[in-house]
Amino acid sequence: MAVVTIVGGQWGDEGKGKIVDILAEKANMVIRFSGGDNAGHTIINPYGKFSLHLVPSGIFYPQVTGIISNGVVINPAVLLKEIDNLASHGIDTSHLIISDRAHLIMPYHTLMDSLEEQRRGQGSIGTTKRGIGPAFADKVSRIGIRAGDLLNKDVLLSHLKPTLEFKNTILTRVYQVPPLSLEEIYQQYCHYGERLAPYIRETLSVINSAVKRGDLIILEGAQGALLDTDFGTYPYVTSSSPLSGAVTAGTGLSPREATQIIGVFKAYITRVGSGPMPTELKDEVGELIREKAHEYGTTTGRPRRCGWFDAVAGRFSAQINGLTSIALTHIDIYDGFPSIKICTSYKLNGEILDCFPSDISVLEKCQPVYEELPGWQEPISKMNDFAQLPSAAHHLIARLEELLSCSINFVSVGPDRAQLIKINSPLL
Ligand code: GDP
Ligand code: IMO
Ligand code: MG
Repeated sequence: MAVVTIVGGQWGDEGKGKIVDILAEKANMVIRFSGGDNAGHTIINPYGKFSLHLVPSGIFYPQVTGIISNGVVINPAVLLKEIDNLASHGIDTSHLIISDRAHLIMPYHTLMDSLEEQRRGQGSIGTTKRGIGPAFADKVSRIGIRAGDLLNKDVLLSHLKPTLEFKNTILTRVYQVPPLSLEEIYQQYCHYGERLAPYIRETLSVINSAVKRGDLIILEGAQGALLDTDFGTYPYVTSSSPLSGAVTAGTGLSPREATQIIGVFKAYITRVGSGPMPTELKDEVGELIREKAHEYGTTTGRPRRCGWFDAVAGRFSAQINGLTSIALTHIDIYDGFPSIKICTSYKLNGEILDCFPSDISVLEKCQPVYEELPGWQEPISKMNDFAQLPSAAHHLIARLEELLSCSINFVSVGPDRAQLIKINSPLL
């Protein structure tokens, strides 16, 4: 059938979880391939409302094998809490698989994430403090602990002991905080290992078998393109790649297998944490969007910064992800707006700039150039057919397609599974 990648087109929280939850109905496999529990994917479906941080959003369908692949960093405590919560809602998680190659978030990672943020002071990144950066740093420094290590207590101890000695030296000498106990961490992770053992295995062969069978595989992205370590607003980024290209390293799937790449975008833009955001609205319009859409972080509860749709950043994101189509969410938030603005280019020192700069000191100086489109007054959240949408919404969609050079095949008009309009999509 198809290998469909779903990625965030902006600074995260675009509604990826909702789109995956809907498209997974026909899928055989859903794979989380990057990030960690910094992600918070909200799902509202007949089982209730869920905030999934690690478990793939396709878990609600019994025919879907949910995989947390090698590209993800896993906090076992968070994962077990999530599994238990799903079970308490009657959701079977026996079809979940965890890659033995996935790295683990350890107590020193979460602690060091917070200590580093404190050290940075005014220049803090505004991380989720989930230990994501330190865990990915240890992975590439070759001192990480992997899910497979939990399956053998001796191996776990042999990896943990020297690493913790090193971490404790940093904790006590650099940050001047008390050391962490080897015995406590070891016992805790042995316990996690016992509980997670049924889920942990090698996953590449499982994925390749699904490809061979021609199964529909959905790759569930986390974060958004503008948070990419290389292409995002560095250093105000996350520590893994949220781009479609990360699928290969994050799962072992060949790049030749990807058939569709769907970018999820809000009809406006939001950002949690620090860093430049050219279209940020620090006025009553931004406040209106935040309150109407309840723009508060799924993972940390922090208020999200809100702004008009940034088509310069959007074009950049569509290009670096190689998008084949777009899912546009939250257009219902514009109900009642007299007009809607889209940033079509930036102005820098009197010159027009229509590409996304790599240097944040440049981006910080960019002034958005806006185009103003008419709004609509009628509520659209109950509409389920493209033709029903007001003509002003049709115009907005057509203009965004033009600016991003990509077709919009899904329009989301509310948080619920039922609130999605498809436009000529082969997938629904
Ligand atoms: P994700 O991280 O990309 O999965 O997005 P989050 O779940 O963090 O944030 C998206 C928020 O918007 C959640 O609260 C969703 O329930 C909600 N949501 C998703 N799509 C829509 C939509 O089209 N309209 C509205 N009003 N809310 C939406
Ligand atoms: P989903 O998958 C929005 C942001 C943090 C911070 C920066 C670095 O729900 O879209 P980190 O903890 O990753 O080191 O923080 O990245 N961030 C997200 N923002 N949605 C997310 O995930 C995010 N994951 C990380 O707020 O600015
Ligand atoms: Mg989120």
